[in-house]
Order: sequence, then C-alpha cells, then structure tokens
Amino acid sequence: MNAFLFVKYYPMTMNKQRVLRSYCFVFFFVLASDARGDLTYSVQEELKHGSVIGNVAKDLGLDANRLFARKARVDMEGSDRQYCGINQRNGDLLVAERIDREEHCGERPSCVLRFDLLLENPLELHRLSLQVQDINDNAPVFPKDVIKLDIRESGVKGARYRINAAQDADIGQNSVQRYILQQNPHFVFSSQTTNSGNKYGELVLDKELDREEQQEIKLLLTAVDGGSPQKSGTVVIHVIVLDANDNAPVFTEAIYTASIPENSPLKTPVITVSASDADEGVNGEVTYEFSRLSDKSQKLFSLDQKTGEIQVTGVIDYEEGSKYEVMIEAKDGYGLSSEAKVIIDITDINDNPPVIYLKSLSNPIPENVSPGTEVGIINVQDRDSEKNRQVRCSIQRNVPFKLVPSIKNYYSLVTTGQLDRELVSDYNITITATDEGSPPLSSSKTFELSVADINDNPPVFEEQSYSAYVNENNKPGSTLCSVTARDPDWRQNGTVIYSLLAGEVNSAPVSSYVSVNGDTGVIHTVRSFDYEQFRSFKVHVMARDNGSPPLSSNVTVNVFILDVNDNSPQILYPAPEGNSFMTELVPKAAHGGSLVSKVIAVDADSGQNAWLSYHIVKSTDPGLFTIGLHSGEIRTQRDISESDSMKQNLIVAVKDNGQPSLSATCSMYLLISDNLTEVPELKDISYDEKNSKLTSYLIIALVSVSTFFLTFIIIILGVRFCHRRKPRLLFDGAVAIPSAYLPPNYADVDGTGTLRSAYNYDAYLTTGSRTSDFKFVTSYNDNTLPADQTLRKSPSDFADVFGDGDSSPEVGNIYVHFFDRSY
Ligand SMILES: *[C@@H]1O[C@H](CO)[C@@H](O)[C@H](O)[C@H]1NC(C)=O
Ligand SMILES: *[C@@H]1O[C@H](CO)[C@@H](O)[C@H](O)[C@H]1NC(C)=O
Ligand SMILES: *[C@@H]1O[C@H](CO)[C@@H](O)[C@H](O)[C@H]1NC(C)=O
Repeated sequence: MNAFLFVKYYPMTMNKQRVLRSYCFVFFFVLASDARGDLTYSVQEELKHGSVIGNVAKDLGLDANRLFARKARVDMEGSDRQYCGINQRNGDLLVAERIDREEHCGERPSCVLRFDLLLENPLELHRLSLQVQDINDNAPVFPKDVIKLDIRESGVKGARYRINAAQDADIGQNSVQRYILQQNPHFVFSSQTTNSGNKYGELVLDKELDREEQQEIKLLLTAVDGGSPQKSGTVVIHVIVLDANDNAPVFTEAIYTASIPENSPLKTPVITVSASDADEGVNGEVTYEFSRLSDKSQKLFSLDQKTGEIQVTGVIDYEEGSKYEVMIEAKDGYGLSSEAKVIIDITDINDNPPVIYLKSLSNPIPENVSPGTEVGIINVQDRDSEKNRQVRCSIQRNVPFKLVPSIKNYYSLVTTGQLDRELVSDYNITITATDEGSPPLSSSKTFELSVADINDNPPVFEEQSYSAYVNENNKPGSTLCSVTARDPDWRQNGTVIYSLLAGEVNSAPVSSYVSVNGDTGVIHTVRSFDYEQFRSFKVHVMARDNGSPPLSSNVTVNVFILDVNDNSPQILYPAPEGNSFMTELVPKAAHGGSLVSKVIAVDADSGQNAWLSYHIVKSTDPGLFTIGLHSGEIRTQRDISESDSMKQNLIVAVKDNGQPSLSATCSMYLLISDNLTEVPELKDISYDEKNSKLTSYLIIALVSVSTFFLTFIIIILGVRFCHRRKPRLLFDGAVAIPSAYLPPNYADVDGTGTLRSAYNYDAYLTTGSRTSDFKFVTSYNDNTLPADQTLRKSPSDFADVFGDGDSSPEVGNIYVHFFDRSY
C-alpha cells in the first residue's frame, strides 16, 4: 500500500482528472489547494433533508459497492455540524441538515462550504466544495417601520432627501432591486449607489410644499427584490413640513474606519464619529444613531447619541466576524440627517488553540504490518488566522509511529518500524499541535492503539534437549519427565499442544514406548524397559500452537534406562552345579602359585551390578587353593605334596557388586594326577563327607569299569584321530558363539595367555541337551592341537561318579580334554 495519503484532486470544471499519487504532488497541492477547487457541487440553500446533491462515487470513480466497507463519510471542515451526508449504498451526496446561505455567508456574493470525504482501507481523502446558491427566501426589510423626514416648506424643486435603503439578506437578483413610491404630487424616488456599492434612496422634491396647505404627508415606500416569486418590504415615510430654514449635519468623513482586537473588554471605545451642523441652537444639536445595523453588530456595539462614540458592548470574536460595517445617521434638532459609514476591522488574537481531529484510525493494527503502513489520519484545525493558524504537529518520541504531513493540515499516522505485540501490545499515542501565534497555543490528543496478534512465534522449548533417566523394570505409566515450551503469542496462537513425532525405537513405533500429555507435556512410559535389551533411545516431541496456520518446533528427549541389578552372575565355566561335571587335572609337581583353573562368569547387568567377585566358599582342603578375588583364577597356594588328597573339590561363589548383590555358585572338581591312568580314582572325587565304605567300593568298581571303557574309547579315538590329520573339536552339539560376544575380561583366557604361561589346557564338560544356551567357546590354537589327547566318555560313565544322584539323568556328554604342556 502506498504509505501516503491518497488525494484525488479535481479542478473546478470537474473533468475527472486523476492527478496525484506521489508525495511530491501532495506537497504541491498543499500549496495549491486553496487556489484551485476540488470536486465542486452546486446546491440551493434550504433544500429538504435527504435531497440529492450529486453522486460522489460516480464523480470520483469510486466503487460504490465498497463505500460501506470503506466507511465513507463526509465531514465539514472546522465544524461538528453535518450538513451533508453520503449514501453508502450508492454514493449519493445528500443534504443532511438545513443549509442557510445567509447564516454561513451573509452578504458575500459567493458562498462555498468545504467538506472532506474520507474513505478507509486504504485511507483516502477527497475534498468537496459545496457552492450554496441563494434562493429568494428573505424579503427586503427597512431598518425602521417609519421614516421621519422633516422638510422645510422653502425646499426647492429637486431637493433630495436621503432615505435609508431596505435590506435583503439575499444576494444578487434576490436582493432589493427597486423601490416603488406611492403615487403623490410632491415627491419622486430615486435610487442611488455609493462608491462602495451600497444602495440608498433619495426622495426628490418634485413640487414645492406648502405648510399651510399640508402639514404632513405619509407616503408608502415599497422595496421589491428580483427573486421569483418576488418579495417586498414597505416603510412609511412620514414627511413633516417645517417652516424654518435648516442645514443638515455634515460628518467629518464619509467613511470611518476603526480597528480593534478581538476580545476587547466591554466599554472599549472603538471610534467617535462627529458631524457638525451649521445651524445654531436646537437646529445645530446633532444626535447620532445607527441607521443600519445587522443583528450581530447590534449585540456588539453601542453608539452614544450625544458624543458619537461607538463602544464595545459584547464579546468580539474574530472567528465570528472579522469586519463590521455600520451606518450612522446624524440628525439635527429639526430632523435633518446625513449618514456615514463606519467600518470596524477586528484583528485576530491567538485565542484558539489548535484542535486535533482523529479522522480515521485502524485499531487494532496487526503486528505484522510493514513499516510505513498508514494506520490513521489526523486533521488539525485552528480557527485563528494567518500566523496564529499555522500549526505544527508532532508525536511523542518513543513510539514506532510518525506523522507524515499531507494535504492541508492533514497528517498520516504511519508506522516507522516493525511492531511486536509480544513486546508492546498497546500504545498511547499523544499528538501535540502548536500554532505559531505569540504566545503560541497548543493542544494535544491521546488515543490508544492496540496491536493485534499474529501467530508469529513458534513454541520454544525451555531446553535445547531433554534427558530422562528411568530405572529398568519401571511400572508402565510412570512419569518419565516433562517438557515445556513457551509461546508468547496471544490466546490460541500461544496455546501449546505437545505430541510425539512419529519414529521408531528398535523397529517398534515410539508410541509403544512413551506417551506425552498434550496439554502438560508430561511424558509417561507405556511399557517396562529392560536395560539389558537397550540402554537408551531418543524421542522427538513436537510443540505446536493452535494458530492457523500453526507453528511448531520439536525437541529431542534422550531416555536413558538405568541398570538395576536384576541379573545374577552367570557362570560360564565350569558349568553351573548340577548341570554337568567337569574336572581339572592338576600335575602333582605343581608348585605353589600355579594356575590350575579359572572360574569364568558373566553378568548381564552393567557397572557395579556386573562387577564380579569370586570366593571359595567350601573346599576339601582349605589351605591348598585360592581364587583371585576378581580374576576367578584358581591357583595352588603351596606346592602339592604327596600327602594331599588326590581329589579336591571346591565350591566357588560368584557375586556381583549390586545393591543387593546377586550371586551364583559352582563346583570345581580337581584331580591331582599326572596321567589319565589315575582317572579311575575319580570315583573318590566327591566332597561328600558321609561316604560310606560301601559306596566307596561301589564307586571304585564303577570307576574301574569306566576307566577301562574310557581307555578303550581313547584307543578307538586315537586310531581314528591318526587317520584324520586335522584335529577336531569335541563339541557335541555345542553352539559356537563368536568370541566377540564375550565380556572383555574373557579375552585374557586365550589372548594374553595367563593360562598358557602355566598349564595350557582347557577342559569342557558340557551337557549335550543344554549346549544350546551355552555361550562360550575358546579359540583353539592349531599348533597345540596335534599333540593333545582327547578323551571321550559316555555320559553315564561319569554320572554316578561325580553327580549327586538327582542331576545325573540330565547329564549329557562329558569331555575331558587336556593339552600337552610345555614345561
Ligand atoms: C494508556 O492510557 C490508559 C488510560 O490513560 C492507561 O490505562 C494505560 O495503562 C495506558 N497504556 C500504556 C501502554 O501506557
Ligand atoms: C492469531 O493469529 C492470526 C494470524 O496469524 C490472527 O488472524 C488471529 O486473530 C490471532 N488470534 C488471536 C486470538 O489474536
Ligand atoms: C525438528 O526441528 C529441526 C530443527 O529445529 C528441523 O530441522 C526438523 O525438520 C524438525 N523435524 C520435524 C519432524 O519437524
């Protein structure tokens, strides 16, 4: 939108010439507007209410259908009166109130009323001039009902006697045109015009009077105007015939001029007129009186009959009238008179402060209007004149608005910057107008301007991202955390609604994990989490406002699941008690500190909950073996001696460090022996203290049979093994799990070779039916394999030897597997 006031300017001829659209033109017309006309209509005074004067829509090329929407209206300059109105449906300019030409313009020959036609959206101003045509609505009126005229009987034919003219408020043709004197033998009437254009009449003596014959004559004088229908006024001229000679008084000047400032106090002398009379005595006594005086002047001035002094008797207001003309008649004792004119000029005093009119205001204004948008029109008027009328208009500093001068004391209120309702939602705009009088007068007007909201702020989360921590095994529905976003916009434009952005966690929709409360932003869990399944996931939460279109932003919520010690240690080696039988061979020559085996356990938890410690809780010979607290390595505490029992049994407990801690136990069977031939004595490997002799014998017998069988198998295997060059692992049905699966502490077993440094052997005893959950494999070194010996026994062979009865049926394959040792 053009930032400036649109002014369409029409020359008086009303040819529709669109002229200006730019500021410099506006400036030009500020200077020129008074000289030229605007859209001008001519209208007769006293038209009936509702009479159509013209059609502004047509004449200005406006869209008549939009007049209502654009709030078209007509204001009269400097007045609250509404003489004209506009029909917003069709653009007709209508008479809204009685227009009396005489009231507005008096005797002025041209009577123009000025109006402003105002349109909004966009703001537009047109000036209308209404030329008010006179109608003959006033009859001629003589100042007095009776004119008294004293005439000497000696008066000669042709003598002239002045008669004050009749007045007609109308002008031109409608004013007094001629006088008709009643038929009579003595006088005729002659109309005269003074240099200044005033009309008056003279009674001319046509035939001498004779006092003896007729002492007085009454004549009817009729003044008629030129209107149609014609109007007239009459006066009676009362001629009294005198019998003495006399001189009429003579004014010192034909026209007196005086000047007084407006608001002069009462009794201020204006001027003193004076007329002298050549006669003596009562004939020379001059008295003064107003011969013609408008109603207005009558209230303002008085004339001293004797002295001829004019005084102020009312409130003189320049704005009501700047010039008064009065006629004064001087009369002598015999009634002979002459007339003079007094022109009283009123000088302006700066007594009217400027008045600020808010002609139009777009309120509220949306906050997104671009700088330079026009939001209002202000008009300033000062009833004083000239300098006192020059007005400067200003607006207070600290607002993003300015006043742009436009045509003739009109100003556009224009935004100077971007508005932001979230910063300032209301402005109190104060406009001050000061005139250039001395002293200057000023006035100010304050109005409120509201800024309407636009949905220009997306909700903003208070944090860049959120982190939520939740213990695993949480109850579904528990509160996880809460997110908050703020939107400073107004009402629904600032109402925040939260929602989850679609996404997947572990290929399940995120909504199956958490939910968010749309109003509060509180995030709840939907299911129970398992730290061992996943430790963290991300959720994207969107905050959207309710504007249209809505604005939104999103934030990431990182959900961290905290470990709870819900997994007990899992012993990988040896297999948990009761599920299998394992035995370790310990060379008889082993020295103190030798590594004989290692308990290997894992814990699915993490951190402290997975920090394992190993303890021997029970052993055959408590002084013989120790276990590394955290390594799980079983070492001899001293050199093995002959007196040591060949069969050693340890029960190892593995505990994690959780709160409370969980544990698992396993049994470890150790055989102090150098070769397998002694294996039959395995039967004694049992820490069962209540072994009876009978059981011992039974076991020995069984072991002997088993050993025999074992040897047989070894031989068979050995033969088979020789046929096959390649070594083969004796994992029967065991599932090989990649070593990467192992917890880090497992690496030492086959990596750095803590075992290899002492005895490099490994032993497995697994149960075939359970191998599917067995998650451990050792990487075998090819170099060591050819030398190794593998021993296979049927499960039943060992079942009774090692088992404690109950578990034996479940026992699967038993492998004893030992490597060549290089010491
Ligand atoms: C504006 O003026 C009104 C009344 O004078 C007042 O209540 C309001 O607080 C003012 N507003 C501002 C923004 O100054
Ligand atoms: C919200 O903003 C839209 C424009 O984005 C505006 O039209 C509407 O009036 C505003 N609502 C309120 C309540 O301010
Ligand atoms: C989330 O916000 C980022 C920047 O804040 C944006 O790049 C991304 O497109 C948004 N995502 C969605 C789904 O709205």
